[in-house]
Amino acid sequence: MDKGGITTDALSLRKDFPIYKNHPDLVYLDNSATSLTPQIVLDRMNDYYTNYNANINRGVYHMSFKATDEYEKAREKVAKFINSKDNEVIFTKSTTDSLNKVCYMYKKFLKPNDQVIVTELEHHSSVLPWQVASKELNLELTYIPLDRDGRITVENFKKVITERAKVLAITYVSNVMGYVTPLEEIIKIAHDNNMIVIVDAAQAIPHIKVDVRKLDCDFLAFSGHKMLGPTGIGILYGKEKILKSLQPVDFGGDMNEEVNLYDVEIKPIPHCFEAGTPAIAEAIGLGAAIDYLEMLNYEKILDHEKKLHKYALDKLSKIENVVIYNPTADIGVISFNIENLHPHDASSLFDERMICVRAGHHCAQLITKWLKCTGTIRASFYIYNTYEDVDKFVDAVRDTVDFFKKFEV
Ligand SMILES: Cc1ncc(COP(=O)(O)O)c(C=O)c1O
Repeated sequence: MDKGGITTDALSLRKDFPIYKNHPDLVYLDNSATSLTPQIVLDRMNDYYTNYNANINRGVYHMSFKATDEYEKAREKVAKFINSKDNEVIFTKSTTDSLNKVCYMYKKFLKPNDQVIVTELEHHSSVLPWQVASKELNLELTYIPLDRDGRITVENFKKVITERAKVLAITYVSNVMGYVTPLEEIIKIAHDNNMIVIVDAAQAIPHIKVDVRKLDCDFLAFSGHKMLGPTGIGILYGKEKILKSLQPVDFGGDMNEEVNLYDVEIKPIPHCFEAGTPAIAEAIGLGAAIDYLEMLNYEKILDHEKKLHKYALDKLSKIENVVIYNPTADIGVISFNIENLHPHDASSLFDERMICVRAGHHCAQLITKWLKCTGTIRASFYIYNTYEDVDKFVDAVRDTVDFFKKFEV
C-alpha cells in the first residue's frame, strides 16, 4: 500500500537495515527506546575491527594513527552535525552518562538554597542527578507546572523562576508525550536570569535538526543508539568557556599531559574528559549514522513520521476502550492504554505477532504519575516504518480489545 510515496521510500530504506532480512515480519515500533542499525554503521565498525584495530593516541605506529584519525573525524562530524566547535564535543557512554557528568561537574558552583528547575516530563536521567544533588547540597528543586496537555510552556517557566535560580535541566522532546519544548525562548529567559541550561536531546536528535548555536544551550546530551548508531556511545556538548572551568569526573590514562608525584597537568578540552580507552568503534559507528541521517534529510524524516502518526491516530481513536494520552504529539509517538489491561500484558500479546512496542513507565515515572496511570503502551515510528506496520499494529490493538471484552460482565 502506497500513501503518498512515503511507504515506498520506507520499504526501500529497509534494504539498508539487515535485521529486516532476518525478520521480514518484524513490526518494530519501539524506536524511542532504541533505533535499528543500518548496514553502513555495522560496516564502519567492522572496518575498524578488521583493518585497523588499535588503541587511539597511544601507539606510535600507523594502525594506531589511523584509529586516532577516524575517532577524531567522528568528533568533527558530530560537531558539524550539531553546529558546535570540535572541542565542545565529548564522547561519553550515553545520554545518562552525559547528564550525570554535567551535574557532578557543575554542582560545585552551587550553594545551599540555589534553585534548580526541572520538569515532570524529564526522563529519570535528566531529573535524578539533580534530585540527589539537591538533597546533598540543600538546593531548591522546582518543577515547572505542565499545562493541561502535559506540555512545558514559556509562561509557566517564567512563573517559577526566582532570583536564586541557577540551573535549568530540561528535555527537548518528551519520550512519553512526544512534545517538542519551546527551547529557544525558554533558554533566552533562563540566560536573562543568569541560569545555565542543560538540554536532554536524546529524543530530539533522531527527529529534528539540533543546532546548539541557535538554541544557545550551555550543555546538551544525546545517545548514538537512538539515532541509528551503536549502543555504548553518547555525546555531551558543552560551551567551550564553561567546559574549561570544569574539573573532569574521571582521571586516568590519556587525559593528562604531565603527571608528577603530587599534581597532574591535564589535557585541554575535550580530551581531559575522556579518560581511559574510549568506545572507539562506537564513535566511528556514530559518525556513519550521522552520514546516513544527513543523506535522508530531517524534514523528510519528520514528515514521514507525522503521516504514520496521523494514520495510526485516526484508526486507534475509533477503537473502543483505547485511551490516548498525547493526540497532539509533535513527533511520531503514541502513548496509550487499553482500559483494564496492564500495558505489559498488551505488549506481550502484540509480541506474538512480532510487534515490538514499549510498555511501562518509560523511565519517566513523573509523567506517568502526572497522567494518573502506572504506565502506558508506547508506539514510536521511524524512517523504516510503513502504513502496513500501522495496520498490523492497529489490528493487534483491536483484537486485544475484542478478546478481553469477552470476559467483561
Ligand atoms: C528523553 C530521554 N533522555 C534520556 C534517555 C537515556 O538515554 P540512554 O539510556 O541512552 O542513556 C532516554 C532513553 O530512553 C530518553 O528517552
